[in-house]
Amino acid sequence: MARWVLANGARTVLEPSFGDGVFLRALAAAGDARVLGAELNPAPFSAAVADGLLRGDDAHGGDFLAWHPPPVDAVIGNPPYVRLRHLPVDQQARALEVAAAAIPEGMQSSGSVWMAFVLHAANALRVGGRMALVLPFELTHVRYARPLWRWLGSAFGALRVVRVHERLFPELLQDVVVLFAEDRGGSTADVGFEALETVASFVSAVPRAASASVSIEALLAGERGFMEALLPRAVHDALLALAPLTVPVRALCSFHIGYVSADKDFFHPDAATCARFSVPEASLVPALTSSRQVQRLRTSTIASETASERRLFLPRSAPNAVLSSADAAYVAHGESLGVHQRYKCRTRQPWFRVPDVRVPDVVLSVFSERPILAINDAGFVATNSLLCGFLKAGTAEALVAAWYTSLTVLGLELQVHALGGGVMVVVPGEAGKVRVVRVAAIPDGHVERLAAALAAGDVAGAYALGDDAILRGVLGVSAETVAAVQEGVRVLARWRDRRGSAVTTD
Ligand SMILES: C[S@@+](CC[C@H](N)C(=O)[O-])C[C@H]1O[C@@H](n2cnc3c(N)ncnc32)[C@H](O)[C@@H]1O
Repeated sequence: MARWVLANGARTVLEPSFGDGVFLRALAAAGDARVLGAELNPAPFSAAVADGLLRGDDAHGGDFLAWHPPPVDAVIGNPPYVRLRHLPVDQQARALEVAAAAIPEGMQSSGSVWMAFVLHAANALRVGGRMALVLPFELTHVRYARPLWRWLGSAFGALRVVRVHERLFPELLQDVVVLFAEDRGGSTADVGFEALETVASFVSAVPRAASASVSIEALLAGERGFMEALLPRAVHDALLALAPLTVPVRALCSFHIGYVSADKDFFHPDAATCARFSVPEASLVPALTSSRQVQRLRTSTIASETASERRLFLPRSAPNAVLSSADAAYVAHGESLGVHQRYKCRTRQPWFRVPDVRVPDVVLSVFSERPILAINDAGFVATNSLLCGFLKAGTAEALVAAWYTSLTVLGLELQVHALGGGVMVVVPGEAGKVRVVRVAAIPDGHVERLAAALAAGDVAGAYALGDDAILRGVLGVSAETVAAVQEGVRVLARWRDRRGSAVTTD
């Protein structure tokens, strides 16, 4: 990165948060440019100045966003990745100010400070200048970064994102990419993208041309261009061939997060507690409350062994009606425990009525790359350990038949974000974009076979059943196309789940 920022003759380089000075050292090794830098933390700041990594006059000890460095030819660095809401208020306010000055939408406080760093550092660049930054992978897909992509496209003549399979920072759980932006003052409609295997190949390949191109317009529309760019040609062809046979699942079913009770034990009293307070049967709604129950779900909640281990306390009276004496006794018990003072309860009216409790048509597990979709024939309500699905078209059986194929798994890999450790978290907005096949006829016994595979704990087997019975059998998709979809799943899963990948030093 240091070689690249210096390659077009930069004389001044800015490092906005130099920390231990790894980039300052790399710059010194790669040339003799004047280096300007900021660092909030006093100890590394003083150490870098004492070590002569930059001159005291060129160094700002404090918030980079409060500093207006002179114009520079290049920027290099790895800014902090801290959510604005976790910053001290003054730093938070400056980040919002910097973002608002650069982009009309400004920035949401749910966003992270790296975005303000990108804008502020890029604004220090002279026309023609370039910038290389290590940024969190979320840059490539989070909604709050979309205005940044529009801005980058209007501020640089060429943009490139590099993702390396081997971890660039093995000690970080956070997945990162490297953004190379050049020709400040130019503009571009596309971002070059390159996926590399090893850190060594990254170091030697930096000046190489990108192998794929992602349209900024598509990023603004919420497409996952940087994920699609990881897929081999044959998988793209397969997705194109299958597109006419598919719909986004949100056309068939709308997914919502389950309810949040605020106090699991109080709102889901066990049998002994119900007996002690004579909680009326009518005030208890069978509920799915734990991921353990979710793992035991089959294709239907009735078929599962989950039958109402837990029930939600939901007194049936209208919001301001008088409670029955038994309900009132249990509510008083909650107050004696201080449940009514919980944050979520305080904002409810009355505090003991859990909002947004609806019986979904289907439920979907959340923490898995092969989530379980089950028909809610038992009429359970569900907490936010599940997504609740409400049918918009077709039957629940048809949705189940459409869901369990590798095409859905590929759609999840493309659309759904993962936590740092690689665990996928299925959220409604992302899940709704997953494309599933349209199934007009369900083969006899197919749903039962899916249930049997799930009952045996073979979730992957259930999805594979759909590849044979639905993709190949009902829709007549070729074996090559199905194999390409399965290959796409493997490729993206390998990028997502990199916990085992160690850094090699060659
Ligand atoms: C991810 S580290 C990167 C350090 C260095 N660029 C590197 O790659 O080794 C982020 C650095 O930003 C510093 N930092 C955090 N907030 C800052 C701010 N508002 N202004 C300047 N530096 C900040 C932290 O102290 C930390 O050293």
